[in-house]
Amino acid sequence: FLVDKGNHRHFMAKEIHEQPEVVSHTLSRYVDFTTGRTRLPDDLPFDFRGVRRLVISACGTAYYAGLTAKYWFERFARLPVDIDIASEFRYREAPLDPGDVSLFVSQSGETADTLAALRYCKGAGQKVAAVVNVQESTIAREADAVFPTLAGPEIGVASTKAFTCQLTALAAIAVAAGRVRGELSEADEERLVTALMEIPRYMAEALKREPQIEKLAKTLSKVEHVLYLGRGTSFPLALEGALKLKEISYIHAEGYAAGELKHGPIALIDETMPVIVIAPHDRIFEKTVSNMQEVAARGGRIILITDPKGAEATGVEPFETIVLPEMPATIAPLVYAIPIQLLAYHTAVSIGTDVDQPRNLAKSVTVE
Ligand code: G6P
Repeated sequence: FLVDKGNHRHFMAKEIHEQPEVVSHTLSRYVDFTTGRTRLPDDLPFDFRGVRRLVISACGTAYYAGLTAKYWFERFARLPVDIDIASEFRYREAPLDPGDVSLFVSQSGETADTLAALRYCKGAGQKVAAVVNVQESTIAREADAVFPTLAGPEIGVASTKAFTCQLTALAAIAVAAGRVRGELSEADEERLVTALMEIPRYMAEALKREPQIEKLAKTLSKVEHVLYLGRGTSFPLALEGALKLKEISYIHAEGYAAGELKHGPIALIDETMPVIVIAPHDRIFEKTVSNMQEVAARGGRIILITDPKGAEATGVEPFETIVLPEMPATIAPLVYAIPIQLLAYHTAVSIGTDVDQPRNLAKSVTVE
């Protein structure tokens, strides 16, 4: 097949901008837009009702999608989730119960460690499911159940649209599991599905922040270290934000759970280190506010990504605030991914690195 950049300078830019469309496409596999209900494949080789624990494993960005899904499966389906990086999981000889299901997340479906983790679980008699973008891949072939993402070919080495499509599929599956397990009512399901259906619209709105982010990236391109903070589902996104930035701009970045600030990273804070805080005005927003105050008290420069209510309620003066519309909490990690990706992208462009083919990295890591 032939894939081109269209009107974009890089594949990464094109893939960031494609997200409203491919997310909508992916969602159509998991929800019925007319009835507002979720749907699971008919031939699913396990029943969520009988699952005692979900074991999730993946690498890189796909791992962060899995980590976000842990919050959803536990909240919506009251299903305990164990998640680990595939390279650790495959060797730690984790005890697996016949009542467990294992789930692998992979864009390429060829990542060596993820595949090895899948084979380990299969060998232990588990039912294995996979959220995969490339349907002809080894992981898709070897899994008992495949949950496709319909992101289309992703060329940029740094994953963007595959990530949000993974999140889309995982959110819908978690809601479906919650419904099957009797943890969500029909009304809950409809409310959540309505929220999921609104993702593309909010993403399109988030993309409009690009000129502001492009300007901000000029400042970011001059720093040596960046810290990303978030709580709840904004925590995996903080990890993903740091990964995106270091992958393509080569600026050192770390993501932390905001509550861990006091346990180490606070020692690094001074006027030279920007702190990117991902904080929609959700039920734990107040907790993140106190972390921002700790950063501000030490002269740290805060770049806050929030919504109008959050922007009003910080009690600190951020260096910059990126304001997204108010939205249902469940979909925030998908929409907030956009400014995170744009910031990494424009910072790298401003530095002049090879955005689509960053040094030392491969799109698909097929050797250990
Ligand atoms: C590489 C890529 C990442 C990707 C990771 C996992 O590191 O550069 O973008 O997240 O592999 O790849 P997978 O294909 O399994 O999602």
